[in-house]
Amino acid sequence: MSPRYLRTVLLSLFLAALTIPAFFCSSPEQDARSSEAEGSPWHNVYDTSIQYVGMQQCRTCHEGIYQTYIQTGMGQSFGYATKQKSAADFSAHAVVYDTDLDFYYKPYWQNDSLYIMEYRTEGKDTVHKRSQKINYIVGSGQHTNSHIFSANGYMYQAPITFYTQRRKWDLAPGFENGTNLRFQRLIELECMSCHNGLPEFVTNSQNKYLNVKTGIDCERCHGPGALHVKEKMAGNIVDTSKGPDYTIVNPRRLSTELQNNICQRCHLQGIAVLNDGKTFFDFRPGMKLSEVMNVFMPQYEGAQDKMIMASHVERMKKSPCYVSSGKMSCITCHDPHVSVKFTPRTQYLNACQSCHGGAQQPHCTEDMKVRATKNDDCATCHMPSNGSIDIPHVAVTDHYIRKRPLTDTLQKKITAFLGLKCFNNDKVDNITTARAFMEFFERYNSNNGLIDSVLYYLSKQKDDEENKKQNRDYIRAYFLLNNYKKVVEYAAALKPENITDAWAAYRCGESYFQLQQLDKAVIWYQRAVAIWPHALDFQSKYATCLLSMGRTEEARKVYSFILSENPDYASANTNLAFLYMQEGNVTMAYELLLKAMRLNPDNEQTLINMAVWYHNNGQDDKAKKTLQHLIKKHPRNEQAKAMLADLR
Ligand code: HEC
Ligand code: HEC
Ligand code: HEC
Ligand code: HEC
Ligand code: HEC
Ligand code: HEC
Ligand code: HEC
Repeated sequence: MSPRYLRTVLLSLFLAALTIPAFFCSSPEQDARSSEAEGSPWHNVYDTSIQYVGMQQCRTCHEGIYQTYIQTGMGQSFGYATKQKSAADFSAHAVVYDTDLDFYYKPYWQNDSLYIMEYRTEGKDTVHKRSQKINYIVGSGQHTNSHIFSANGYMYQAPITFYTQRRKWDLAPGFENGTNLRFQRLIELECMSCHNGLPEFVTNSQNKYLNVKTGIDCERCHGPGALHVKEKMAGNIVDTSKGPDYTIVNPRRLSTELQNNICQRCHLQGIAVLNDGKTFFDFRPGMKLSEVMNVFMPQYEGAQDKMIMASHVERMKKSPCYVSSGKMSCITCHDPHVSVKFTPRTQYLNACQSCHGGAQQPHCTEDMKVRATKNDDCATCHMPSNGSIDIPHVAVTDHYIRKRPLTDTLQKKITAFLGLKCFNNDKVDNITTARAFMEFFERYNSNNGLIDSVLYYLSKQKDDEENKKQNRDYIRAYFLLNNYKKVVEYAAALKPENITDAWAAYRCGESYFQLQQLDKAVIWYQRAVAIWPHALDFQSKYATCLLSMGRTEEARKVYSFILSENPDYASANTNLAFLYMQEGNVTMAYELLLKAMRLNPDNEQTLINMAVWYHNNGQDDKAKKTLQHLIKKHPRNEQAKAMLADLR
């Protein structure tokens, strides 16, 4: 239901031949989920009463660091859509055409506001036009600018991105080849919490924000700062040349593993499975990431050069340097307060030599004459730039350090899917593994073989407490198989009011709905929206169920609520128009339908309703045109064909 990032990319990579995936991480007997707070000498790691204070506070005493940090990609990762922030080209040729959906996109400024216009032409006529104001830009511009708009706090990604390395506009990553979600891809917390400071989020929604930061801030790597600031203001100064100031985390003072855990909160983009009761807010520097979530990556045979853009951790951890030394972390080579743009190459060279200069580690065996042609810059040869499979038109540094990085590219094709590997925990438990497979299925690959693995891992979890929790996992697994009968078997044994997972409640509702048991479906949908009232997609399903049951007044209320939250929620406009049409309120119905058409000119239900409206109002020529357009876009719509035949 919620459009998933990257889905298409990996789909296209995936090969049909799939055996039941092996799982790498653990022997399944081990169950070491560390959910309890492990001790830490730093005060701001587990004490949740210590608040975040924001970057401007830190700046008052650390101006020098602030000034270099603010020029980094992380410092500029997110901001208001202003001319100053945008790195893009707005000349006349800045137009993107989506050949699959037949839409043009043009970015333009109107005074100081950025807009993206979607339009369609037929001959010389413009037959569709929608302009969307853009509120935020994500991406510092080192590689891209992507565009986000807020409808009353509900955040969505716009369909086009500017790729700075090629100075080119194109469809946003994941919108290519017929998967263009237009203005409907939700910006969920997972995405926001990697690309920005922590927001004020409406937790009973999927994508509603009260307030967002403008850039990743200091406390994402140092932890909440209220205690530190209070102590320093009170004059309690620690001599940090002698030892740590325990009021704030300095990553340099952590173990190599905990250092890497900070960066891998964001630089390990894969299939993230949150532990029970945890959210994307809960990780703090000084913790192990596995206390909050586990991140899996699909492993393939062949194509060793293929990588996801934000996979620095995965790539680094494959390197013999990391594996053999056990001492390599991101800050062996990087000072995150200084952009790579301004980092001298000697900094990386020195890092290599800090290990390879000594007697213990191997020295380079390449001919010195050849090395001299590259100024003996180790990283040039051993860490070359590479394309990425998820984000087009970018080149990023491959952090998999190898003797001959390019020889692997001889095997360019992926030949097999090997399984999912967890990169931040080698003792991950069965339920987590099962959930990772389900997430993988939902995002990238709907091969039923994956669900066999899910059921296998679930069945291995024996104790009772866990079994109770598992109902929602079984519900999800059978739901993914479209086995609605099995889902409602589980649902029948549960009391809706005891369920706290909105997705589980939704899945029960949807399964009853598919089985035409509307009276049961409605109760579960109702539960889903009671848990997450601001998940508009759930509200919309609930309203549609009410409508199908003839409970029109209740349906009207829900649709009105949806539109009061987000007036541009297209299907609510369509369905409300249908209600007005039933009552003979021709004017209101027409207005809402026109709006729905402007929001989405190709939606089947909207087009049907529009055709009916034209027919009822004596405009059969327009009704015919509408139906012809519908059939062109959805050639298998039998209802439209029958209606058209009637009109003829
Ligand atoms: C009122 C001034 C002040 C403010 C505001 C302030 N700091 Fe500091 N900070 C200091 C001083 C002074 C030191 C060095 C002495 C000490 O730690 O007691 C320090 C040390 C640090 C250290 C090093 C600790 C160590 O163990 O090496 C870090 C990291 C740090 N600050 C981060 C931050 C962050 C992040 C913020 C914002 C949340 C912040 N500071 C706000 C004054 C301040
Ligand atoms: C809150 C998420 C987050 C955390 C934590 C994080 N990063 Fe980043 N990092 C990002 C994102 C997102 C980008 C890309 C920003 C952009 O260019 O728009 C980035 C970019 C970078 C860059 C390139 C940008 C530049 O100008 O140099 C480096 C280097 C980097 N990160 C290193 C680190 C290291 C080292 C750590 C751990 C100490 C770390 N990051 C922790 C999210 C994060
Ligand atoms: C696990 C953290 C994580 C998640 C989740 C995530 N990203 Fe990223 N993304 C990153 C990091 C880190 C980079 C930077 C990689 C680099 O600079 O090499 C990046 C790069 C990008 C880029 C290229 C940007 C640039 O200019 O460097 C875009 C666009 C992007 N992400 C968009 C998104 C969107 C939209 C979502 C959510 C739908 C998302 N990402 C989810 C971590 C994440
Ligand atoms: C992406 C992670 C990251 C972000 C964001 C970040 N830092 Fe740091 N910070 C580090 C790391 C890693 C170190 C240890 C650096 C080292 O020793 O090389 C550090 C060290 C420090 C120190 C102590 C050492 C020193 O250089 O004086 C201070 C103070 C500090 N940071 C302040 C800040 C402030 C202020 C901000 C925001 C403007 C900030 N940091 C943002 C990762 C980060
Ligand atoms: C923390 C220490 C450390 C750092 C820093 C480090 N290495 Fe290594 N590197 C090692 C160790 C240990 C090995 C493995 C030696 C072995 O297994 O025989 C290794 C192996 C290698 C190999 C051989 C890999 C192969 O395919 O067999 C190359 C090439 C290499 N390093 C290059 C680099 C380069 C280039 C840098 C800097 C960008 C670097 N290393 C930084 C410790 C390090
Ligand atoms: C052995 C040295 C080394 C280590 C360790 C290392 N990096 Fe890098 N990193 C580099 C080099 C070299 C570049 C390229 C810099 C340039 O373009 O000048 C780079 C570039 C980057 C960039 C910029 C975008 C890109 O991909 O070109 C990001 C982001 C980044 N590193 C993140 C990380 C993270 C996160 C870690 C830890 C998982 C890490 N790095 C560990 C050497 C290292
Ligand atoms: C011109 C490209 C180039 C440069 C520059 C370069 N290397 Fe290499 N390096 C290679 C090649 C190619 C090999 C493999 C040679 C072979 O097969 O014997 C290699 C091999 C290695 C090995 C593996 C040695 C072994 O015993 O197997 C290490 C370690 C290494 N390089 C480290 C470095 C370091 C550190 C630097 C920088 C001081 C560096 N290299 C600079 C191309 C380069």
